Amino acid sequence: MVKALVARSAGADLAVEEIELPRPEPGEVRVRIAAAGVCHSDLSMINGTVRPKFPLVLGHEAAGVVIETGSEVRRVAEGDHVVINWSPACGECAFCQHGEPWLCVTMEGVTSRPRGTLADGTPTHVTLGVGALAEEVVVGEGALVTVSPELPMADAALLGCAVLTGVGAVHNTARVRQGESVAVIGLGGVGLSAVAGAQLAGAERIVAVDISADKEELARTCGATDFLISNPELPQVVHSLTDGLGVNHTFECVGRSDTIRAAWQSTRRGGTCVVVGMGSRDDKISFSALELFHFARTLTSSVYGSADPDRDIPGIASAVLSGSLNLDAIVTHQISLSDVPAAFDRMRHGEGGRSIVLF
Ligand code: APR
Ligand code: ZN
Ligand code: ZN
Repeated sequence: MVKALVARSAGADLAVEEIELPRPEPGEVRVRIAAAGVCHSDLSMINGTVRPKFPLVLGHEAAGVVIETGSEVRRVAEGDHVVINWSPACGECAFCQHGEPWLCVTMEGVTSRPRGTLADGTPTHVTLGVGALAEEVVVGEGALVTVSPELPMADAALLGCAVLTGVGAVHNTARVRQGESVAVIGLGGVGLSAVAGAQLAGAERIVAVDISADKEELARTCGATDFLISNPELPQVVHSLTDGLGVNHTFECVGRSDTIRAAWQSTRRGGTCVVVGMGSRDDKISFSALELFHFARTLTSSVYGSADPDRDIPGIASAVLSGSLNLDAIVTHQISLSDVPAAFDRMRHGEGGRSIVLF
């Protein structure tokens, strides 16, 4: 039995429960979790934004050590330090074959079956096929990326979601180049990672935006050159900071129609507006036909940083180890499993950066 953070239903109180995980099947691996981040997508599982199956072990952003391998496991060995990739690619579907592993269609199958049982024998689902807010997980070996033991586990955990998502949106989706200007709206773990990624890409102007003044210092430490409190005049202010042009690239890291609209209007002619936040199906947004035509702006989304995790997680890990990507400002709270509800409260109020559970 291992301890895990379980939601019995949407809106129900969370509880640390004992769960029984299955033994690794062929190709599967048991990982002892060392660090797991509290990501907004975990909150989205229980607040009605998405509709997962319950009971549900929360968590999907984590790193740990391999403690048991099933038969036919080739990629990892006992003792390896690994980052969990919650979107392992099958390598065979049309999207994988097209070089877009982040769009792999097998995810739905992974998340639809239970994995493990609660103490009363009820089968439990695990978030995104992982369920990392737990002492251990059992996942397919394709969900593991080996990293250097020198990489601190808290940083390694972030690489599994927030950092891959934020840095990937900047480097892979928008392909930000040296000297360009960028605006990032929403400065949680994902948005702060986008800011740090923009600095790494050599962006000259990095405008960071949030509703919470708390975020200014964190954003500036990650590389922001300007900080703005979100307001209805945001696009005009962004234009005024950029010679009336708007920024080359905007990254919406909240998941709301009004911030997507603000991001779009802050994007210059020919620029790219990237929706990184996961919004709800009921939050509608409309564009006139003319404004979508004017002026060759791209509106796109970035799922899991448009990344190939097997290539990009090691790449980002090297950047962290060499000091060129600084994640120090992102983690503001090191907590235990029972403190996760308080971390969700901070998230609801826009307080602090990432909370990380250390086991
Ligand atoms: N304008 C600007 N910022 C806002 C607004 C707003 N209207 N509303 C909320 N924010 C800020 C919050 O203050 C917070 O700093 O957005 C940030 C969101 O951060 P987190 O809740 O920590 O979320 P994070 O884990 O970074 O994920 C961001 O990406 O992957 C998706 O599902 C995820 O939609 C979520 C988004
Ligand atoms: Zn996440
Ligand atoms: Zn695939």
